[in-house]
Amino acid sequence: MPKYLITGGAGFIGANLINRLIGEGEIICVDNFNDYYNPEIKEDNIKKFKNNNNFRLYREDICSLQALDKIFNETTPDIVINLAARAGVRDISSAQLYIDTNVTGTANLLEMSKKYNIKKIITASSSSVYGNQNGEKFKENMKTDRPISIYAATKIAAENLCYSYSHLFGLNIICLRFFTVYGPMQRPDMAIHKFTKLIDKGLPVEVYGYGETARDYTYIDDIINGIKACIDYDTNFEIFNLGSGEVVKLKYLVDLISKQMNKKAIIKQMPLPKADAFYTASDISKANTLVGYEPKVKIEDGIEKFVNWFMHERIC
Ligand SMILES: NC(=O)c1ccc[n+]([C@@H]2O[C@H](COP(=O)([O-])OP(=O)(O)OC[C@H]3O[C@@H](n4cnc5c(N)ncnc54)[C@H](O)[C@@H]3O)[C@@H](O)[C@H]2O)c1
Repeated sequence: MPKYLITGGAGFIGANLINRLIGEGEIICVDNFNDYYNPEIKEDNIKKFKNNNNFRLYREDICSLQALDKIFNETTPDIVINLAARAGVRDISSAQLYIDTNVTGTANLLEMSKKYNIKKIITASSSSVYGNQNGEKFKENMKTDRPISIYAATKIAAENLCYSYSHLFGLNIICLRFFTVYGPMQRPDMAIHKFTKLIDKGLPVEVYGYGETARDYTYIDDIINGIKACIDYDTNFEIFNLGSGEVVKLKYLVDLISKQMNKKAIIKQMPLPKADAFYTASDISKANTLVGYEPKVKIEDGIEKFVNWFMHERIC
C-alpha cells in the first residue's frame, strides 16, 4: 500500500482527500492546527480517521525542518501531498505569515523529499498566481509575474522552488493551481461559506466588486479526482489548472445560495479589495489531455450539496 504524507490534512481539501485515499493507502497527516480559523473545525474534520490503523497524525509545523526530518525518517512516505498553507488573499497586514508556511514550509518539504528519495510530490498552488488578466481564460503558460496579493506572490515562489528542485535533483513534482474550491468542510472564511452563514442568520452579505466579479468555482469532488489522477501520472515537472472551466458571476452565486436556503439575501455592495482578482477562469485542457481531468459538478448541484452539508453537518 502506498504511503501518503499529506500536509494540511486537517484542513478543508486535506480532510476530503484523506477521506478518499484512506481506503487505498497509509496516511501520514501533518497539520499544526493553527487558528487562522477555528481549530475545532479541523479537529472535527479528522476525528473519524483517528481510530483507523491507516491513519497517523503529527501535530507539527512544516516550517520546522527538524520536525519534518523526524516524520520522514519515522514514516518513510512514498508520496508527499502538500496542502498546508497560509490561505486567503485579503490579509495584507503581514507578509511573514505567508512566507513562512508557503515558501519556507514548501522548501523544507522539498529538501526532505530530496533527502528521503520521495517518488512524487504534489503541491497546492492557486489560480491567484494569474493576478488580473484581460478577459481570457487562464492557461498554465501565461506569465505569472504580476501577483496582486502576498498570498499569490508566495504561491509563485513555491512553484518556482518546485521547478528548481525538479530540475536540479530530479524530483517528480506536480503543482496544482486550484480554482476557488467549495463543498463540505469548506473554510469558513471563503465566500460561499460566509454568504451561506450570513443569509441563514438574516445578516447583510458584503458583495465585493458590486457583484460584477466572477469566479471559476470548483466542487471538492472534482478537485479530489484531479489530485488522484495526478498521483498516477508520471512526469518530472508539470503545472496543471484544476478548475471547473465555467465562470459564475458573484450576483448569480448569491442568488443561488439564497434560493437554496429559501431565504432572502440582504446585499451590501462593496468595492473590490486590492488583493482580489476581478475574475478567474480556468482553461483545463492541459489537465484534461494529460491526466484525463474532467470536472463533473455544475455550480447549481454543488451549491445544493454545500447547503445540505451546511444545514445538517457543520459544527459551527
Ligand atoms: N480552498 C480553495 O479554494 C483553494 C484555492 C486555491 C488554492 N488552495 C490551496 O489549497 C491548499 C488547501 O487549502 P484549504 O482551503 O484546504 O485550506 P485550509 O486552511 O482549510 O487547510 C490548510 C491546513 O494547513 C494547516 N497548516 C497551515 N500552516 C501550516 C504549517 N505551517 N504547518 C502545518 N500545517 C499547517 C492548517 O492548520 C490547515 O488545516 C492550500 O495550499 C491553499 O493555498 C485552496
